Amino acid sequence: MRNPFVYGPIVTGANFVNRKRELEELKRDLLSGKSVVLYSPRLMGKSSLVEELFSRLGKDVYHARVDVSAVDSKRALATRIIETIVNSAYTKLDRLKRAVLELPGFFKSLRVSVVFTPEGNVKLEMARDITDEELGEALDFAESFAGKKGRRMVLAFDEFQDVSDLNGTAIEKLMRSKFQRHRNVTYVFMGSKRHILTRMFSDESRPFYRFSKPMELGPIPRQEFKQFIANKFEKTGGRISDEALDAILDLTGGHPYYTQQLCYELWFSSRKVTGESQVREAVDRIIAHEQKNYLDLMDHLTPLQRRFLRGLAAEEGVSIFSSDFVERYGLKTQSHVQRVVKSLEHKGVLDEGRIHDVFFREWLRRGLP
Ligand SMILES: Nc1ncnc2c1ncn2[C@@H]1O[C@H](COP(=O)(O)OP(=O)(O)OP(=O)(O)O)[C@@H](O)[C@H]1O
Ligand SMILES: [Mg+2]
Repeated sequence: MRNPFVYGPIVTGANFVNRKRELEELKRDLLSGKSVVLYSPRLMGKSSLVEELFSRLGKDVYHARVDVSAVDSKRALATRIIETIVNSAYTKLDRLKRAVLELPGFFKSLRVSVVFTPEGNVKLEMARDITDEELGEALDFAESFAGKKGRRMVLAFDEFQDVSDLNGTAIEKLMRSKFQRHRNVTYVFMGSKRHILTRMFSDESRPFYRFSKPMELGPIPRQEFKQFIANKFEKTGGRISDEALDAILDLTGGHPYYTQQLCYELWFSSRKVTGESQVREAVDRIIAHEQKNYLDLMDHLTPLQRRFLRGLAAEEGVSIFSSDFVERYGLKTQSHVQRVVKSLEHKGVLDEGRIHDVFFREWLRRGLP
């Protein structure tokens, strides 16, 4: 029997715990033309939320999620945008019949040639890197496409912060100047490097300053998650006690990825989970798998950073700038702590001052090895 818990890929439908409020709010804003920037700690479910929304939007609204991670040229950016829109907006049949005929009509200077993958998806080829003007046409494609077809489009950019690696703020500037004139398309911006994304949208000197409504995605409420986990156990012929459910959520705080990871591990060991001790054993097994990664990570940190993390894990909730804390963990001064926090946030170990990976935090707490 297949394990009913999924961690890693984007989840929708039966694997998606409902997030009713966020779905409603997002839908309302996007359909009334307000673009949104979606913030959250890593692996909190941004991409899944957007895909779940898309699956519920209905046929009269186009939608596409363009993943721009590690995009390395203007040509690559233009290609990903156009390909994703074409592959999500046309049916498979229309891709073959119409896309080739219609596409060139959308561009004045941009030259694209269309090929098909064996699965029937469109792939674009461009002979050389492109000019800003040509990229501008690609950025306008969603607007002209939706306008021509007489429908709205919601276009989501995933890992959006990566566009800023292309050539500083020049691309951001071009994007903003185009997007702000679009009337048929609403945008969602999201990404897993929160500190970079935040700066793009809240720093006055950046082109996307205040362009979008900020939306924060948090953990999943306890009751909903408990219900979801209990159902998954029951549907696969198992059972899980309330005590065990509480132990899971106490540990993960309702973080969707880590909760699903823990439940995945638990389900494999037993379909009848009666108590807290089984949860603890599942955590031990996860830590045993991950130990090598934790050690590698620690190897790349300075002694000060390591001491700080051990202190934070042991005393989460305590004021990390208090002289007590600084002294207890040999952190020298408050400004050393400030620097350590910044660098650990940069590395993705910390998020908003908390250790992001709950199993890593647990491992640190145990003081091993
Ligand atoms: N609503 C949800 N219900 C249940 N599980 C979820 C939900 N959202 C996310 N998850 C779990 O979290 C994992 C990560 O989800 P997702 O990739 O959508 O997060 P993300 O915030 O886009 O991550 P990243 O920071 O890497 O971009 C999923 O594989 C799934 O296990
Ligand atoms: Mg994502």
